[in-house]
Amino acid sequence: MRTIQLNLIPGDGIGVDVVREGTRVLERLAEIDGGIQLKMKTLPWSCEYYLQHGVMMPADGLKILEDCDAILLGAVGFPGVPDSVSAQDLLFPIRRGFDQYVNMRPIKLLPGLVSPLVNDKIDFVVIRENSEGEYCSRGRIENDHTPEKTVVQEAVFTQKGCERIFRYAYEYAKKHGKTKVLSATKSNALKYSMVFWDEVQEQVAKDFPDIESRKMHIDALCGYFIMHPDQIEVVVASNLFGDILTDLGSAMLGSIGISPSGNINPEGKYPSMFEPIHGSAPDIAGKGIANPLGTLWAIEMMLRQLELPQLADLLMKAMCAVLEAGQVRTPDIGGRSTTSEMTDAILQAM
Ligand code: IPM
Ligand code: MG
Repeated sequence: MRTIQLNLIPGDGIGVDVVREGTRVLERLAEIDGGIQLKMKTLPWSCEYYLQHGVMMPADGLKILEDCDAILLGAVGFPGVPDSVSAQDLLFPIRRGFDQYVNMRPIKLLPGLVSPLVNDKIDFVVIRENSEGEYCSRGRIENDHTPEKTVVQEAVFTQKGCERIFRYAYEYAKKHGKTKVLSATKSNALKYSMVFWDEVQEQVAKDFPDIESRKMHIDALCGYFIMHPDQIEVVVASNLFGDILTDLGSAMLGSIGISPSGNINPEGKYPSMFEPIHGSAPDIAGKGIANPLGTLWAIEMMLRQLELPQLADLLMKAMCAVLEAGQVRTPDIGGRSTTSEMTDAILQAM
């Protein structure tokens, strides 16, 4: 019997609603498999926790979290606590502290879903740099409280950081039979960071002569997402660009409630963390109408990383079957079902 330890951080808002559904699916999968024993520990770290304790997680939070095979996160952020606090004090310390430098985000139209786009052949991945770049949290405020107030927000791009994300993307393309890698840049305007980013792409691309290498300025790339999604296979993007592109990508699937995200430490030195792309959506929190698919798909990615491909396949097939049947769907994808009805249908299909 293989024991798998999962640490769950439901977080805030609909994060709590969707992780609850995720737990039900995980329990069922473990029953079906028979060969694994799941141990799940839920950590209460959230904005509510912050209001009680003055911190988003305890000082030794990463130590507590580290002892597991994978982490499942719902969403963080709630009115009453600045969004910068919940991100800077919980999300980023985990992503950076566990060196989860790859943020893998599949953008794929599952059968039965309706894209708002006419060109709806959508099946690509965005590989987002997840440890530095525009999210380095560095900067300064000068001449505060004067008319000369100046705020500097820095972005840090290192050789190591850029090289490893490009290498990961090209390797991914090679391994998955993809033929093209497209980099999101803006080297016309950002003369240090993005010029360097392009240079590193060129260096790494030399080792992958069979893969077509392209770059596109981020503004043009947004247009390309809408007009020619069928031409896209693997996108590599810096932290901020990847963040923006993947909300756009998920919206191309008809709802931002669908897409998953894997914060991956490829070396396996630290646990990886899986989460839906969507946020905590306080306006619908607790109403039972959040779409559980983003989280269930994140679990599917997690199962693959845990080398349980049969269970991942089973879950994915069940999700697709429910979507294709079209009977049960949450309001964001045009139905009237609740979060738990959607999960019930998927459990049934499994
Ligand atoms: C995401 C989210 C986060 C990010 C927020 C909550 C800070 O938008 O995971 O895409 O920007 O990384
Ligand atoms: Mg985002």
